[in-house]
Amino acid sequence: MTASKRIVLSSDHAAIRHRQAVAAHIAAKGWEVVDIGPTTAESTHYPKHGEAAAQRVASGDCQLGIILCGTGQGIMMAANKVNGIRCGVCTDTFSARMIREHNDANMLSLGARVVGEGLALDIVDAFLAARFEGGRHATRVEMIKALEG
Ligand code: RB5
Repeated sequence: MTASKRIVLSSDHAAIRHRQAVAAHIAAKGWEVVDIGPTTAESTHYPKHGEAAAQRVASGDCQLGIILCGTGQGIMMAANKVNGIRCGVCTDTFSARMIREHNDANMLSLGARVVGEGLALDIVDAFLAARFEGGRHATRVEMIKALEG
């Protein structure tokens, strides 16, 4: 297994079942899944789970990350506060492909109360299959990086 196949997963209480489905789905495709929980359905705070997953990606421990909450929005906002993270919420496969091809996203966020499990897995597949195109998009991604604190 190469380091390029290592991916971190995290969620809040609203998305545990979706997260477990994503974990099983991508593990079956050969990804080394680092699932950092939580493991119980007890109410928790999405910012700390978004930040924890983002740190794994920002540090280089994991190449990519997938995070989930009820809408995917709050946990995405937290992850994007970590320098080096480019995370987008996706509710369709086109956006999931584009955030990698054009935005060089290294994290995907999903809303378990927004997309069903089947669509969520298709979105994950689109995200993982896509590659950054570079070129003019690299200039724009560098402009995003320049905004980091
Ligand atoms: C939890 O109730 C909910 O607020 C959270 O999962 C998420 O949707 C926040 O953005």
